[in-house]
Amino acid sequence: KPSTTQTVLGREYKVDDYTNVPASILKRLTPNPDLPYKPNHPLQLLRSQIESHFGSNYHPMASPFPVVTTTLNFEDLGFPDDHPGRSPTDTYYLNRQNCLRTHTSAHEVETFAKGEQRWLLTADVYRRDEIDSSHYPIFHQMEGASIFSHEDYRVGGKVQTEVEEMESRLSRSKLLEIEDEVDLKMAGDYQKGHDPRMAALAVRHLKATLNGLVLELFGERHRFETSGGATGSQAEPLKVRWIPATFPFTSPSYEVEVWFRGKWLEILGCGVVMERTLERANVEGKLGWAFGLGLERIAMVLYSIPDIRLFWTEDKRFLDQFQTSTGGGAKRTSDGGLITFKPYSKFPPCYKDVSFWLPQTSTTTTSSTSPSSSSQGQGTEAKSSSSSSSFHENDFFEVVRDTVGDLAEDVVKIDDFTHPKTSRRSLCYRINYRSMDRNLENEETNALHSKVVERLVNELKLEIR
Ligand code: PHE
Repeated sequence: KPSTTQTVLGREYKVDDYTNVPASILKRLTPNPDLPYKPNHPLQLLRSQIESHFGSNYHPMASPFPVVTTTLNFEDLGFPDDHPGRSPTDTYYLNRQNCLRTHTSAHEVETFAKGEQRWLLTADVYRRDEIDSSHYPIFHQMEGASIFSHEDYRVGGKVQTEVEEMESRLSRSKLLEIEDEVDLKMAGDYQKGHDPRMAALAVRHLKATLNGLVLELFGERHRFETSGGATGSQAEPLKVRWIPATFPFTSPSYEVEVWFRGKWLEILGCGVVMERTLERANVEGKLGWAFGLGLERIAMVLYSIPDIRLFWTEDKRFLDQFQTSTGGGAKRTSDGGLITFKPYSKFPPCYKDVSFWLPQTSTTTTSSTSPSSSSQGQGTEAKSSSSSSSFHENDFFEVVRDTVGDLAEDVVKIDDFTHPKTSRRSLCYRINYRSMDRNLENEETNALHSKVVERLVNELKLEIR
């Protein structure tokens, strides 16, 4: 008889029709995330580099409990009821009222309510998603925020002074080329209740702060890579651009992209905090901004880490490469170089295909192809919608993950066929099995694959071809 409650880290949750957290995720929940605090771990290096860059003005906060109410994760932040990010195909629910946080913005209201004004909060976040080298159902975000009282926005006041200091430091460095002319209409405009002069100054403060962060994280490495380490002026500038965005909890809103190794890399979402957020937090007479960045995504690029599963490995060949000379926050290895991961030889992959007919009346939705959900820094902005349907790709991926865990390296759809007479549709996926830590024998892979197939039949009612 199925139990009607589920215990998560000592707290009880009633099971209902939304409950969808698999055992493989439940058993990995911890009161505090380990990786961003694990010595010599790349996420620890990145978190502490960011925290030391922001300095003593910003309070670094530990991660709160991973289960949050949907009120905190969505409603307080202005997500409409039908926002696609709220769908159980995209979010892990304990029940209709509680979910695993999908982003660190879930803690904005409570953090502001504590009276915190300038803070950085790092936490594990959870999203149902596809399986490939850059997606993992658990990843880490850092939320940062800064609010000031209206008084501080006066001409010649504290905010202006800070902005001018940051802007002049940026222009002196000459290393960063900034593209930040954004059409305000597209970024969502200043909020009704805001004095436009103050809001404009808040945006300037936001831009100067985050441009400074980009320079801190990418500057040295970029210069090193484009000029062979020379500090001369021949180095091509690092570029940052500000793109208009839409988040329900900021306006105006932006995404920040960095031109690095020949590509635009989206690194964070940000904007001026909605009045609604501060009202829910009982904060009056203040104004400011927030940002949220994905730590894995940035660490993968900075340190050349090719697979997101590596963050979870205990292999010394991985961890030893992030040994720094002085510990917390150091960017350099003990011999003074910039930290870069050198891949060690991988164990062989083993591909297995599974093809199946969809249940007769089913429609298919795939959230995995939308441009913004393909980056794990973001996602609240514009996930593709998923209509009511009996087959969703994420359910398929979840069965694979729950059955074989990290042994699935990626899963790709290799065939999509509709029978001309019956119009029945069949799909074929290729699962690439590979362990990070050991050789997988064909026999073991076959056994794993049969288990996956069995669950697809029993749980998703798929008919194997
Ligand atoms: N929470 C957003 C995301 O995960 C990022 C964000 C944070 C945007 C704060 C604006 C302000 O996509």
